[in-house]
Amino acid sequence: MIVIGIESSAHTFGVGIVDNGVILANEKSMYNITTKGMIPGDVANYHMDHVNEVISKALLSANISIDELEGVCYTKGPGIGPCLQVGQLAAKTIAKELGLKITTVNHSIAHIEIAKHFAKQKDPLVLYVSGGNSQILKMRKNKTNKYYVLGETFDIGVGNMLDNFARSAKLNPAWGSTVAKIANEGKYIELPYTVKGMDFAFTGLLTKATSLIGKEKIQDLCFSIQENAFSMICEATERALLMTNSSELCVCGGVAQSSMLKDMLGSVAKEHKAKFGYAPDQYNADNGAMIAFVGERELSKGHDTKLSKCTIDQKFRTDLAVVY
Ligand code: FE2
Repeated sequence: MIVIGIESSAHTFGVGIVDNGVILANEKSMYNITTKGMIPGDVANYHMDHVNEVISKALLSANISIDELEGVCYTKGPGIGPCLQVGQLAAKTIAKELGLKITTVNHSIAHIEIAKHFAKQKDPLVLYVSGGNSQILKMRKNKTNKYYVLGETFDIGVGNMLDNFARSAKLNPAWGSTVAKIANEGKYIELPYTVKGMDFAFTGLLTKATSLIGKEKIQDLCFSIQENAFSMICEATERALLMTNSSELCVCGGVAQSSMLKDMLGSVAKEHKAKFGYAPDQYNADNGAMIAFVGERELSKGHDTKLSKCTIDQKFRTDLAVVY
């Protein structure tokens, strides 16, 4: 079944096309984050301006015409309301105009399922780390087809924390990957470290690191904020790995693009003889292919959604979504 998937939950407007589990296209356009961060109305306007262009590019790279599409899906949430509405409107318009089946996709589940696909893992312990989310999850053993959350952030996502620090330090571009680059030349200075069982918190670390901007070397601050944040996540993940006795560990989400985090998690997995896996970077960043991948699975199993029930949910939690 050829399905087009639209992602618009945050800074990325992405369109993917999947046919029977095979990714045919993954195109996107990304809003450039400045020191002001993401202003919802501005990002939504950006997405609106790029709908046609990105859909056309995806059809071109999949080498299909729009008439060959058999289904459509979009990100229902979690995400920024006005941004989610752009994807919703685009998907509903395509469904109505072409008379296609439509379904909605949980953004977090899409990150998890595409990573499991590339990692060739069936039932891993999952670490989902992105701008808005940081969770440790495992599929429930009952028949609900839902994940349960073993541990998560008490406050903000690790990606948001690193982006926020980058903005305060006026790094350019102001996001986590710039922190990672500058961190290569830094050494460790002591910063807050907060883990409670399998949960963690990042605002204390962010506040302290931000207060030291201009007083300590930026290289040392970048190194230490990453070192503490990733060590906290690894400590909680190791505890969850031992508690669940999992033989597989999978990391996904935007922050899973960090090679430092992957190296640290790889060591944890090796220590406990668990297989470690993840998706290529372009599928860990927000993208339309992961939405199409999950949506195609839902639609091909007959789980379509009535057009009138195609809503958005800004706070759609990972553990509330059914995985088909
Ligand atoms: Fe994401």
